[in-house]
Amino acid sequence: MDFELSETQQLIRQTARDFATAELEPGAGERERKGEFPGALLRKMAELGLMGVNVPERFGGVEAGVVAYALAMMEIARACASTAVTMAVTNMVAEIICKFGDDSQRQAHVPKLTSGAYPAGAFALTEPGSGSDAAALRTTARRDGGGWVLNGTKQFITSGAHAGVNVVWARTGGPGPKGISTFLVTPDTPGLKIGPEEKKMGLRASNTVSLVFEDARLPASALLGEEGRGFPIAMTALDGGRIGVASQAIGIGTAALEAAVRYAKERCTFGKPIAEHQAIQWMLADSDTELDAARLLVLRAAWLKERGRPFTREASMGKLVSTESANRVCARAFQIHGGYGYVEDYPVERYLRDCRVTTIYEGTSEIQRMVLARMLLRD
Ligand code: CAA
Repeated sequence: MDFELSETQQLIRQTARDFATAELEPGAGERERKGEFPGALLRKMAELGLMGVNVPERFGGVEAGVVAYALAMMEIARACASTAVTMAVTNMVAEIICKFGDDSQRQAHVPKLTSGAYPAGAFALTEPGSGSDAAALRTTARRDGGGWVLNGTKQFITSGAHAGVNVVWARTGGPGPKGISTFLVTPDTPGLKIGPEEKKMGLRASNTVSLVFEDARLPASALLGEEGRGFPIAMTALDGGRIGVASQAIGIGTAALEAAVRYAKERCTFGKPIAEHQAIQWMLADSDTELDAARLLVLRAAWLKERGRPFTREASMGKLVSTESANRVCARAFQIHGGYGYVEDYPVERYLRDCRVTTIYEGTSEIQRMVLARMLLRD
């Protein structure tokens, strides 16, 4: 086994770390409090190659692979989790179009995603009545003349108000996963309305809206992949997306642990820094261990994906362990800060709020366990 990173992986990680430290971290708390979408910062990240880390160079990506992508995501999330989720979904959308699109779809959208010409990409699977049970979606797409007409609502769509392209799943056939197809929808589509921005518990500098389709007209060329084969596209994309969200959680957890270590060395009780009390030391040690275990699991999933090998199981394990661990790490960091953790002068309350959704989106912890148990019992 080789745990060394390649030169490219080290370079991407360092690039992300330098940018995150210099440009993202200083304003992260304020942007989050104000709910300010990081548009200009995202453009700079695109210039650094961070919007297409695992995208082929011919479509404007840096083709640095999935491990490099996971490492970059950890660094960005360590500074600003809102920017990280926007980056994660944009990279995911670029990868979906590269993998499942035809050449004209790739040429039309991927260079705009990777270059920052599109502020972001969006992934629209979830609906008001279907989140975990994705195959129960009710948005319809019917053929009309040469094109398609969409009706329905998508819910909790990250970057939905800013995306240059939305990947949208809709029902073109009967019930269940086999009746679902995938479409590329641009924001100028007649009949597409963007809903109001959600007021979230955390990640407030990321954008979350509903997308409402009322007789929305799409050209024939909007269909991505084959009709009726949309559900496996969503599942394949989510396997990769889970590596992104797992990495995001590790980044937030790392920031929380660093804040806890800093504070524990400064704050004194009973005549000494609290870092010298065993109760605090054990919390720090548990957090460090859990984050490192999570990091290894996620990097293994990324390594498998990079080699074109099956990685569904490893991505689900990585997402489950990382997001649950990172939530515990944030809660411990919060506890270590005592009353100061509860006020906005310190960043740990934001870490705790930002981290909470990682066990929910991109498949809840319960869905990851369902995926894992099904594979275990089937095999
Ligand atoms: N890769 C490729 N294909 C897959 C697959 C995978 N990992 N998993 C399933 N499929 C295929 C199956 O092979 C099957 O295809 P065939 O009919 O050709 O055999 C088809 O998909 C249906 O599979 P299932 O019978 O397993 O489907 P199901 O209805 O039981 O659902 C599920 C499976 C895992 C529960 C799925 O619904 C799921 O992942 N739910 C969670 C949804 C989710 O993660 N949503 C996140 C929204 S996006 C988001 O959060 C983004 C953000 O903002 C950050």
